[in-house]
Amino acid sequence: MSEYTARRRDRESWGSRAGFIMAAAGSAVGLGNIWKFPYMAGGNGGGAFLLLYLACVVIFGLSLVIAELVIGRMAQRTPVAAFRQIAGRAWPLVGALAITTAFVILSFYIVVAGWTIAYMVFEVGGQVASTDGDHLEAVFNGLVGNTWQPIGYAALFMIATAAVVLGGIGHGIERASKILMPALFLLLIALAIRALTLPGAAEGIEFFLVPDLSRVTGATVTAAIGQAFFSLSLGMGAMITYGSYMSRDQNLPADALAVVGLDTLIALLAGLMVIPAMFAAGMTPGDGGAGTTFMVLPAVFAAMPAGPVFGFGFFLLLAVAALTSSVSLLEAVVCYLVDETRLTRRRATGAAAIVCFVLAIPSSLSFGLWSEAQLFGKSFFNLLDYLATSIALPLGGLLTALCLGWVVGPRAIEALRDDDCPAPRWARLWLFVLRYVVPIGIGWILIQGIIG
Ligand code: PHE
Repeated sequence: MSEYTARRRDRESWGSRAGFIMAAAGSAVGLGNIWKFPYMAGGNGGGAFLLLYLACVVIFGLSLVIAELVIGRMAQRTPVAAFRQIAGRAWPLVGALAITTAFVILSFYIVVAGWTIAYMVFEVGGQVASTDGDHLEAVFNGLVGNTWQPIGYAALFMIATAAVVLGGIGHGIERASKILMPALFLLLIALAIRALTLPGAAEGIEFFLVPDLSRVTGATVTAAIGQAFFSLSLGMGAMITYGSYMSRDQNLPADALAVVGLDTLIALLAGLMVIPAMFAAGMTPGDGGAGTTFMVLPAVFAAMPAGPVFGFGFFLLLAVAALTSSVSLLEAVVCYLVDETRLTRRRATGAAAIVCFVLAIPSSLSFGLWSEAQLFGKSFFNLLDYLATSIALPLGGLLTALCLGWVVGPRAIEALRDDDCPAPRWARLWLFVLRYVVPIGIGWILIQGIIG
């Protein structure tokens, strides 16, 4: 065993293989899949976006999920310390970029997560029990345009996230994910079936599944790669943190494949649920923006027997899925603070949560009171989302690939294998992808995006 692979005995590790997969998939599966993916696909050409998205997941996503998990497992440390340990000198900067990105994403993530709590209330109270698109749009705009209500919900969600993070890694997250993820999955299948059989859905299915390549622009490609990274929790160290709790007898590549597969499947299901329903409701794809999922889905519930029950259940599970993701974001920040400063875990969690919540306020207000304020043609919320998702995450991924591919090099292949099998045969291909394909591909997309 090399110095890199020796387990540090003082670190907790995952209770079981299924526990790890569920928790890592819990980080990956969240608002990114169910709230963001459908409206990104809707606004960026439907099938063409889907195709690019899948290409990004296969080419960049999978190799980088494996890369981050390997870094975490090698170093048994959180991102900044991990980069310092495996690569030395300047590389902790990559970790610092990662932590900043996690922080920024968390700040707008809790705003949207807050909306899901509001919708639980709406489903119970009957405010959204309607198939009338105009009414549902008005309800959404009423919520996000309100000054205090969405901020209050975001605060609630931040508190819940901090509470889970304080509960420690193995217990809270692992236990909850094991029951709730499968429940969410089953509910999504039921809802997709309902949406697909709505009158008028067929056109939406075609729009989503049949790529029309004339719709591809530089912006579509940037959106697709950003979405892939966001959805897979890549490029900001979340997977490094999870990898640091993995043990050497876990089959890392197989587990990574399971996580990527689950995440992609759930995004697809969400697309099949929201996009046909959008066409059935007579909405033009792209029009609803960040509100799409919230405006469209209540109409699907309203068209089902026991609609409010399904509606409430759905938004509850979505809030929980968001929680398992926000926990991984906050966990990344807290672990850093605990490892690098003298703060206790309690203090670090409290401080990070409060600062993050303060940053969430302008994001929330940018849907109402401050909707006129634009920077570079984007609202505050959209600007943070764009910078974090489309720039910082791919950049983080690119640097991670360079670090593992060139600085760590062939030693990474050794670290990939588990205790009892040799490194897989495709490990050389993986290293090649990290060395050349990822840096050149992402570099090109980033430059395109910035000039375009
Ligand atoms: N992947 C999460 C989602 O799809 C969001 C996330 C991004 C979580 C980055 C952690 C890190 O909702």
